[in-house]
Amino acid sequence: MSFRTQPAPLARPNRCQLFGPGSRVALFEKMAASMADVINLDLEDSVAPSDKDQARANVIAATHDVDWGNKTLSVRINGLDTPYWYRDVVDLLEQASDRLDQIMIPKVGCAGDVYAVDALVTAIERAKGRTRPITFEVIIESAAGIAHVEEIAASSPRLAAMSLGAADFAASMGMQTTGIGGTQETYYMAHQGQKYWSDPWHWAQTAIVAACRTHGVLPVDGPFGDFSDDEGFRAQALRSATLGMVGKWAIHPKQVALANDVFTPSEAAVTEAREILAAMEAAKERGEGATVYKGRLVDIASIKQAEVIVRQSEMIAG
Ligand code: COA
Ligand code: MG
Repeated sequence: MSFRTQPAPLARPNRCQLFGPGSRVALFEKMAASMADVINLDLEDSVAPSDKDQARANVIAATHDVDWGNKTLSVRINGLDTPYWYRDVVDLLEQASDRLDQIMIPKVGCAGDVYAVDALVTAIERAKGRTRPITFEVIIESAAGIAHVEEIAASSPRLAAMSLGAADFAASMGMQTTGIGGTQETYYMAHQGQKYWSDPWHWAQTAIVAACRTHGVLPVDGPFGDFSDDEGFRAQALRSATLGMVGKWAIHPKQVALANDVFTPSEAAVTEAREILAAMEAAKERGEGATVYKGRLVDIASIKQAEVIVRQSEMIAG
């Protein structure tokens, strides 16, 4: 094991990130009243080019006028390959209220993309005397993004979270699908006449989790486009949680409760984790490093596994 200890990510609930277009002002109060931990007001791909200026003004006004409670308030700016992003950053940092917590940078392809936004944000924060630094979140949604995922995870002390953006990722990778998350008709293994569905997002998700955990960043699963498919959303979310992700986006309000349910450790899971910790405590008193819990091995590594669940549960409750 490396002598370096793994840095802890921000201790904040991030079970669900609810998105809404910056051009649909009527949604803002509904988003604020939702049970999502994070709100993402969008200036990017859900806003038409002709609406960019108005959406930016709407979002800035909403940082002053809407009561966002204790939610993390994040704004998704336009990508660095557009003519809009610098104005997004300048106007947000100069005009948004201190209630703005975070900026989401889409389509990040290398650490330099984050560096560029960081330089601009840092200069404006200093010029304006902002005392609470804005945090960043990024979307991995291109071949370059996933190829450089580790340097991106290490790119800035501002970086709090990283999401997988399935749609742009699929397009950039040349994947033969128009689905946003979920499995695909064409992605299965066959054995003795049976089809076994596979998960085409699995590798990208685990690459993101590994990069994030190495550098103390929260790994988040992105959108699930078919908001009439609750079962599909739940299946994908359960997989993401099992792989180490802490939350998932909602692109429709009905997905919020689904995400919160999956990413809140269940009472049964927390009870079991506490029992494992107690069993290991008793083992330690007997001078043993390993013992048996419900017919299975638990050892010193089990303490760390159980602590992940207990810590997550306590952080959400507290
Ligand atoms: N946040 C909060 N409330 C929302 C909402 C959102 N993102 N989207 C819809 N609602 C509200 C509607 O206003 C409606 O409220 P009402 O019952 O008071 O009338 C209710 O939820 C049901 O909405 P529905 O009619 O099913 O959806 P819609 O046709 O108005 O909008 C989408 C559907 C997908 C276009 C819309 O949900 C949306 O824009 N989602 C976010 C898209 C986005 O930001 N994408 C970028 C990230 S991938
Ligand atoms: Mg995208």
